[in-house]
Amino acid sequence: MAVRPIRILGEPGDDVLRLPGQEVECIDGSLQQLIDDMIETMRDAPGVGLAAPQVGIPLRLIVIGVPELPAFALVNPEVVRKSGRRWLDEGCLSIPGYRGDLFRSVKVTVKGLDRQGRPVRIRAADDLLAQALEHEIDHTNGLLYVDLLSGPEHLHRSDRDDDEAEIEAPDERAPESAAAGVPRRRGRAPLIYVARSRRQAPNAGARTRTPRPR
Ligand code: NI
Repeated sequence: MAVRPIRILGEPGDDVLRLPGQEVECIDGSLQQLIDDMIETMRDAPGVGLAAPQVGIPLRLIVIGVPELPAFALVNPEVVRKSGRRWLDEGCLSIPGYRGDLFRSVKVTVKGLDRQGRPVRIRAADDLLAQALEHEIDHTNGLLYVDLLSGPEHLHRSDRDDDEAEIEAPDERAPESAAAGVPRRRGRAPLIYVARSRRQAPNAGARTRTPRPR
């Protein structure tokens, strides 16, 4: 097992984060190796999920490591049903230093294959697992959480002070489409650009927050 480098949005090699993943066609030894490496990379980060594009492999493959469950992989995962809407705080290992507030589903049903190639179906409701499944499956479609934000004011530095005011959920206009349809933004500029030397989004968040030096 090995920790693999995580691709970072705005750094060289990040284009794979915007590619739709290819279906996994063969569950062989190299895929097992990749799964083991992804689990180790996720734990090392640490994070609760990781998708293959984040380690530079454009495949429909994710690993999940929420506290309640042993870490597991899902091959060719797909959201087959989702319902409800909840307002959550979210981050991504490929967008370090930032978090966002966005809508996710309450109930999520996902199907795919386990690492032995057996069909599995997972139902999650109102928990971190449901959020992680949606987030990681988005990655396999080239979608990042920043694409789902209803405005730049919902992106913030993850080192923000606790006494800063929480930004309220927006009212019922634009976010409906963002939450319901999983919009595709491939080929369009990301909402934020995280530069290697200057970890500060030039546009996003600027209206509401003054970034502080770390
Ligand atoms: Ni992510």
